[in-house]
Amino acid sequence: MPISRRVNKIGISPTMKIAAEAKEMQVRGENVIDLSVGEPDFPTPTNVKDAAKRAIDENQTRYTLNQGRLDLRTAIANKLKVENGIEYSPNDIIVSTGAKQSLYNAVQCLVYDDDEVVFTSPYYVSYPEMVTLAHGKSVIIRTTENEGFNMTPEQLEKVITPKTKVLIMGYPTNPTGSNYNRKELETIASVVEKHKLYVISDEIYENLIYDDNKFVSFASLGEEIKKRTIVVNGFSKSYAMTGWRIGYAAGPEEIIKAMNKIQSHSTSNASSISQAAALEALNGPQDYIEMMRNEYEQRRNFVYDQIISIEGITCVKPKGAFYLFPNIKNYFGKSTPVFRIEHSFDLAMYLLHEAKVATVPGSAFGAEGYLRISYSTSMNNLKEAVERIKEALSKLN
Ligand SMILES: Cc1ncc(COP(=O)(O)O)c(C=O)c1O
Repeated sequence: MPISRRVNKIGISPTMKIAAEAKEMQVRGENVIDLSVGEPDFPTPTNVKDAAKRAIDENQTRYTLNQGRLDLRTAIANKLKVENGIEYSPNDIIVSTGAKQSLYNAVQCLVYDDDEVVFTSPYYVSYPEMVTLAHGKSVIIRTTENEGFNMTPEQLEKVITPKTKVLIMGYPTNPTGSNYNRKELETIASVVEKHKLYVISDEIYENLIYDDNKFVSFASLGEEIKKRTIVVNGFSKSYAMTGWRIGYAAGPEEIIKAMNKIQSHSTSNASSISQAAALEALNGPQDYIEMMRNEYEQRRNFVYDQIISIEGITCVKPKGAFYLFPNIKNYFGKSTPVFRIEHSFDLAMYLLHEAKVATVPGSAFGAEGYLRISYSTSMNNLKEAVERIKEALSKLN
């Protein structure tokens, strides 16, 4: 067997199977509406694209500093100060190939030898696999609809052992859209301080937040917490730049230095063209973010109202991100002559084939009994998809 035991310990997400099948159906000419996507359906803003074109024409095509261009890190430091109320020097910041690389490298820097890493379920699919690849142990706190999919400080306190090293916080949350307010975060922060944990704060959805909910960056909760937190963020969701692969981390210099060391032996600097684009994203007009946020909010209102009107489905109203995470347990045990629904995977497959709507089973996020529905697609698609879902579900007995 040529593949190492380390790699064999991680799995391919069930998301991939549904996505691959949806793609095959589309290639066959079937009209599949894809609500499984995890990326904005908007194009990258024109000023950002133009900056990248200019960078190519000006031959900004060589290696940059491994840690990222100084002017970009300075712009990121300015953003973190002005928008999030946290002060960093450019030395405390590393630019990476997407937020995902920063998450990965932060885990690699902090976790080894069965160190325990705590995070909540439903979780972002990559957290447990990153921990496994770092030889750590995932400790998962199961959150419920009743608590709005948020953990309580008591739940956190309960799972802490002498081996607990890191807490991964990610809000607004993929896949539930949950969010923590300042008071809730402060109670979690006091547990973190008491047990001297480190926090990796995944803030990639910070700008996609609805109603009167607010985003509070974990590191902004106080000087002590800032010393224990690595902020991870990027351009994928806020500026519709998923394909550019550009993100960053900010945190204690010692940890950022260690992340820089890992990055220097794997990918080196993030793409020079993407860095030029990211610099323009931060320095240029910001109204695009509000335009997208507003559009997502309208879509969320529509899809949420439609989904909760379906008999047997409950759903927590998302406060942010662009996903709905309805509870579909009442459909377990139901069937048609050719389909029987026992798990969320079966229901996702049924909806794919019967309604031609692609969703993601909750099991992919460690939460059986749910489906993830992305509303990052046009209102017309959403209207059509909801009608098809309703009709397909009505055929189950
Ligand atoms: C919670 C969460 N964190 C991180 C990422 C990765 O972001 P990036 O595209 O910047 O690597 C995603 C992407 O879907 C995400 O949902």
